[in-house]
Amino acid sequence: MLRKKIIIGNWKMNKPPSKAKILTKALSFAVPEDREVVICPPFVSLDVVKKMLKGRKIKLGAQNMYFEESGAYTGEISALMLSEMGVSHVLVGHSERRAIFHETNKEINKKLKIALEYKFTPVFCVGESLEEREGHMTEKVIERQLREGLDGLKKSDVLKMVIAYEPVWAIGSGQTATAKQAVEVHKHIRAFLSRLYDKELSEEIRIIYGGSVKPDNVDELMSKPDIDGVLPGGASLDAAKFTRIVGFKAK
Ligand code: PGA
Repeated sequence: MLRKKIIIGNWKMNKPPSKAKILTKALSFAVPEDREVVICPPFVSLDVVKKMLKGRKIKLGAQNMYFEESGAYTGEISALMLSEMGVSHVLVGHSERRAIFHETNKEINKKLKIALEYKFTPVFCVGESLEEREGHMTEKVIERQLREGLDGLKKSDVLKMVIAYEPVWAIGSGQTATAKQAVEVHKHIRAFLSRLYDKELSEEIRIIYGGSVKPDNVDELMSKPDIDGVLPGGASLDAAKFTRIVGFKAK
């Protein structure tokens, strides 16, 4: 089963439209045939980036989305709105959403469902904190995030997603998980999904790694068969670094 590699740049709360323009312009690389590239600017910059990506293969993603379609939800953005913006991917359950905005597995489950209804590719983020890792809770925490996040979803739905393993302790910290640590968890996620659904799903679904991905560690990460892509944050704000990450060379 060929799982197409995917590189997703998460700009987080950076790059207002004026700066987003400059960064998008600097992403002058051609997307290699064997990989998919997505960038996730903040909501207010989606429009300008979308216009600039016209005719190019780089896809547009959103960093978050609310699970109701419209109504009195001051400050929120719906799937309907994002579909009009030309978004194809949406990050769901990023650890910053979970930690800072107290997003629960139940809300994440609702978001995944609405994202699928709108035919987005949900990028479902899971990962353990440092405390959880040190307490040997990694597997348990991730299993719970997966079980509750995927509650009520059919195999055919789950196959449309990308799972992102993002250890919280590695995000923005400069401390990348070693390729070995990442592979261990990716393998565990596959084994767990095989139990939750079946072996076929576990072999077909893409599982990507995020957490201080940089030009100097991407080749090693991408040389592991269990790692189907990367989700850089900080490094995606630098055109040269992101270009190098997109052009990774598996060792
Ligand atoms: P980082 O962020 O690459 O800056 O660690 C990754 C992420 O949070 O998606």
